[in-house]
Amino acid sequence: MNILSPRRLQGEESFEKSLRPRSFSEFIGQRKVVSNLRVFVYAAKERGESLDHVLLHGPAGLGKTTLAMIIANEMGGRLRISSGPAIERPGDLASILSSLEEGDILFIDEIHRLHPSVEEVLYAAMEDFALDIVLGKGAAARDLRIKLARFTLIGATTRYARLTSPLRSRFGIIERIDFYPEEEMQEIIQRTCRILGIEIDQEAKEEIARRSRGTPRIANRLVRRIRDFAQVEGDGRITGEIARSALERLRIDRYGLDEIERRLLRVLVEDFGGGPVGLKTLAAALKEETDTIEEVHEPYLIQKGFLARTPRGRVATEKARSLFSPFQSLF
Ligand SMILES: Nc1ncnc2c1ncn2[C@@H]1O[C@H](COP(=O)(O)OP(=O)(O)O)[C@@H](O)[C@H]1O
Ligand SMILES: [Mg+2]
Repeated sequence: MNILSPRRLQGEESFEKSLRPRSFSEFIGQRKVVSNLRVFVYAAKERGESLDHVLLHGPAGLGKTTLAMIIANEMGGRLRISSGPAIERPGDLASILSSLEEGDILFIDEIHRLHPSVEEVLYAAMEDFALDIVLGKGAAARDLRIKLARFTLIGATTRYARLTSPLRSRFGIIERIDFYPEEEMQEIIQRTCRILGIEIDQEAKEEIARRSRGTPRIANRLVRRIRDFAQVEGDGRITGEIARSALERLRIDRYGLDEIERRLLRVLVEDFGGGPVGLKTLAAALKEETDTIEEVHEPYLIQKGFLARTPRGRVATEKARSLFSPFQSLF
């Protein structure tokens, strides 16, 4: 298992749950997003209305599910959780929708993966709070419209561009969640350690923050791993020295690049002269899926300034080239 994966690994559910902020004020960073959401939530509450539909998009592990839960908490509505791939047929969605009550929140994760026929049902539900059903077949067919309770849909996606425009246009609130800067990562690590009862020094916080890809999920996982090293090889406290040696042994370099990313940059720089190279060619050379490269690896490499997307393909930056000079160490 890849320790740097931004996706949730098996068995991490309860650990994650214990660390999940439950209110806007507990949520660290993403200030603009949070302050917008706060305004919309409080305004809706004051008017006694349900909240407009919300779309949260951005890379995995940055707090989309957490924010959805916070919104439900703050609105005081019941939360119903589902996901794009889990809703297989229009009837599945219809039964979820008709069970909702006024003010309920329906969270659909990976909403870009909804089947088109299911998505179709969602349109009228979002816009008119109605369910359109066709009864019978052929000439005897009749349209029936069923009224739904006013609910709020919160959609989350890592692939904003994959969303169809009719679906996108039905969200009143659209917010992008981005990688966290290192100072905020330090705050998140501090909070995690406080909750888990771990002592950590400033140097260690900086070290872990630097290498956790601006992603809280990864930072929390690293803290948990490094705690083991601190316990066995130290006195339980996570010091800068313990953190550095643990991260090195976990093969996490100083940029937080994983094995695939190091390979991607090497192939791009050494085999393709720095690019431009098309995504498919690159994926084939790496024997990885284009989707994973686009969704997980590229956003981080671009954000860190190692890679650029151009109309003619992917290009390695000067910073990426310098990684492979014989004088530089990755660790
Ligand atoms: N801003 C934050 N402050 C503190 N912890 C956070 C923050 N954002 C995310 N986390 C933690 O990171 C983990 C992953 O968050 P999650 O909401 O599941 O991400 P996503 O749904 O975007 O993949 C959770 O354990 C969550 O508590
Ligand atoms: Mg999630």
